[in-house]
Amino acid sequence: MTLPGAVITGWGTALPDTVVTNAQLEARLDTTDEWIVSRSGIRERHVGGTVSTLAIDAGRRALERAGLAPEQVDLLVLATCTPDLAVPATSAAVHFALGLSGGAFDVNAACAGFVYALVAAHGAVSCGAAQRVLVIGADCVSLLTDPDDRATAVLFADGAGAVVLEPSDDDGLLAVDFGVDGSAHDLLTCAHGGYMEMEGKEVFRRAVRTTVDSASRALQRANLTPDDIALFVPHQANLRIIEAVASRLGVPMQRVAVVVDRTGNTSSASVPLALADASDAGRLRPGDHVLMSGFGAGMTWASTVVRWNVDTAGSALASSPGTRGEKR
Ligand code: ACO
Repeated sequence: MTLPGAVITGWGTALPDTVVTNAQLEARLDTTDEWIVSRSGIRERHVGGTVSTLAIDAGRRALERAGLAPEQVDLLVLATCTPDLAVPATSAAVHFALGLSGGAFDVNAACAGFVYALVAAHGAVSCGAAQRVLVIGADCVSLLTDPDDRATAVLFADGAGAVVLEPSDDDGLLAVDFGVDGSAHDLLTCAHGGYMEMEGKEVFRRAVRTTVDSASRALQRANLTPDDIALFVPHQANLRIIEAVASRLGVPMQRVAVVVDRTGNTSSASVPLALADASDAGRLRPGDHVLMSGFGAGMTWASTVVRWNVDTAGSALASSPGTRGEKR
């Protein structure tokens, strides 16, 4: 028996309307635009909304792009580490609001969550459990960030990105590598009712090393070299991490997707936001190989190599009307 493969047929994004610039942070924190840009590459970020409102907007856009009616989708996999509620899973509310069929579940693998969710979705299609899957990465990390802590408040933000997976004889997911080093779980934590705490320097070091290793393993499993990659989509935490990883992998920055300057670190949303931005900018052609890598709290990592299947054209990252956060 040949297992069915799956390809990405649609994508969509949602960002809250409220933009917080470095100048605004400079006005209320002991920080400077120069420090934020030189240490992280971030110039502005979007804050507001909830995971479900952002996920619904991004998911609806992905369905439109794929040309699917909601009831044709029979599984939702929502990657988030900032769910609206502890119980139930946020995917239940998103599934209902979008009018999807079949099942839904959340995945929490922090900033590696979207790639984990994509792999789970592909597995569901391959084993026949689902036909069409909506995969969303959505996080409101600003809700878990102490607005008075300059070490984290300048980095984290909110957003959502989504893709649709549909069955295909010509499988689009060529290779996967994922893992977790739970011995380092205390390097980046948020207690119930508390705020994000991070050992930034150590997380930085691990992010570079682990992402390079994981992306290399995924490439090797796909029988590809960095030269074969049309677009590298890394987790968008810090431009310096992205540049260090790209340089060590041997992928020039012209072939790297970057949105961190405009979005900050949106955790599970960062890879699909960067992927959608690149495809909307016409940077992808059918047959292109796309390498995606996430790294985050846990410490988790996940990389995948995907063969792009769609002709792309259109506009840049969409802001999401009606997702403005009132209390920030
Ligand atoms: N403005 C000005 N100064 C600051 C700020 C700020 N916003 N934040 C920290 N500083 C100060 C520090 O207090 C420190 O001062 P000191 O030398 O007097 O003690 C100095 O700047 C240097 O701080 P470092 O933390 O050493 O700065 P670094 O160059 O390491 O950059 C950063 C910090 C941006 C956090 C970086 O370490 C980083 O990006 N780490 C990785 C983050 C990441 O990848 N996360 C991924 C996972 S996210 C997830 O899973 C949800």
